[in-house]
Amino acid sequence: MDFSVILRTVGSLALISGALSIIISVAEKVLNNYGTCELDINQGQKKLSVQGGSSLLSTLAAEKIFIPSACGGKATCGLCKVQVLEGAGPLLPTEEPYISQQEREEHMRLSCQIKVKGNMRLMIPEELFNIREYICRVESITDMTYDIKLLRMKLPEGETVTFKAGQFMQFYTKPYGKVKEEVFRAYSISSKASEHDHIELLIRLVPGGICTTYVHTVLQEADQVRLSGPYGDFYLRGDCEELIMIAGGSGLAPIRSLVYDVIEKGLPHKMRFFFGANTVRDLYYMEEFAQIERDYPQFKFIPCVARPEPQDNWTGETGFVTVALENQVDSGDGKEAYLCGSPGMLDACIKILKDKGFTDQTIFYDKF
Ligand SMILES: Cc1cc2nc3c(=O)[nH]c(=O)nc-3n(C[C@H](O)[C@H](O)[C@H](O)COP(=O)(O)OP(=O)(O)OC[C@H]3O[C@@H](n4cnc5c(N)ncnc54)[C@H](O)[C@@H]3O)c2cc1C
Ligand code: FES
Repeated sequence: MDFSVILRTVGSLALISGALSIIISVAEKVLNNYGTCELDINQGQKKLSVQGGSSLLSTLAAEKIFIPSACGGKATCGLCKVQVLEGAGPLLPTEEPYISQQEREEHMRLSCQIKVKGNMRLMIPEELFNIREYICRVESITDMTYDIKLLRMKLPEGETVTFKAGQFMQFYTKPYGKVKEEVFRAYSISSKASEHDHIELLIRLVPGGICTTYVHTVLQEADQVRLSGPYGDFYLRGDCEELIMIAGGSGLAPIRSLVYDVIEKGLPHKMRFFFGANTVRDLYYMEEFAQIERDYPQFKFIPCVARPEPQDNWTGETGFVTVALENQVDSGDGKEAYLCGSPGMLDACIKILKDKGFTDQTIFYDKF
């Protein structure tokens, strides 16, 4: 075929596809123009006029109403539930796995999945109005292990944060490299609840993960970061004599905050903290917890290493954390359990705890 014919064909195809993409984007703008929509919250307690077209989660966030959400709107965490009495349309397939039959009857919806397309009537728990946004300065980034960093952030001068030990914050990234949009993820607060001008997070690198790659490779000391919170119901109930605490990896974060909370408030609970690590390289905060153990006889630290090497000269518990739990916790009587770590580890531990008499009312956890 003549070369000029090929050039003309390629040129015409490029023109057609250019024209098509313009038509599609104009059509999208026209079709998705839902105009101004009215949101009635808690039967007239708040009334908002918002631009339609975005998810309910991000529309509310733009109005400084922060609904808990850990997965960044990917419909994988189920945390962003909101009661929508009117205006949400039928339940979407992406919502179905997270909304129980009872929740359907109560009109609960995943706010990250439903779009604001018209007027809506919502019910939002009062306590969510206390969730705030903070623009912090990164004070330090410290390597705790080969894949866990401690991020210490300072709140703006004069601002304070109040949270319950065990709760989490949402951390927002900035666009970087091929990631063109901001994302946000949940991170448990590892600092003391008595510290109101700082937030500390322990962030484990997930290979290929958007937020953790940002924290581990892009973020620098003195950078500004955006956080919102606090969120979550993983906090101390304390209706017992002894707290059994179990964590793996960065799951140590909320447990550290809980341990200090019990100590600083002078609560009488005995505490046993089982910390599971694969190898000795995965252990951290060892000296700090050993010191707490020396200072406070009510606290016992039990690090368990699944695969120690001979050269590690490891003298502590060897094997999975489940083995130590099985051997050292006799029954659930007078105890509550607080667990944080990977789903696999938590499921195995919860099974053992239930066999020992712990119940859904005495087991509290955050899985990630
Ligand atoms: C309540 C709560 C508290 C949390 N607290 C902490 C914390 O204190 N410290 C911490 O490091 N993380 C914590 N997480 C996990 C955190 O929110 C992110 O999910 C995690 O850091 C991965 O984010 P990412 O953007 O780097 O990965 P993404 O870009 O979201 O995911 C990249 C890929 O990795 C997979 N993936 C996501 N998370 C994990 C994981 N944990 N392990 C293995 N694969 C994964 C995804 O399925 C995906 O395929 C918490 C989660 C919840 C729900
Ligand atoms: S934000 Fe995770 S399911 Fe909606």
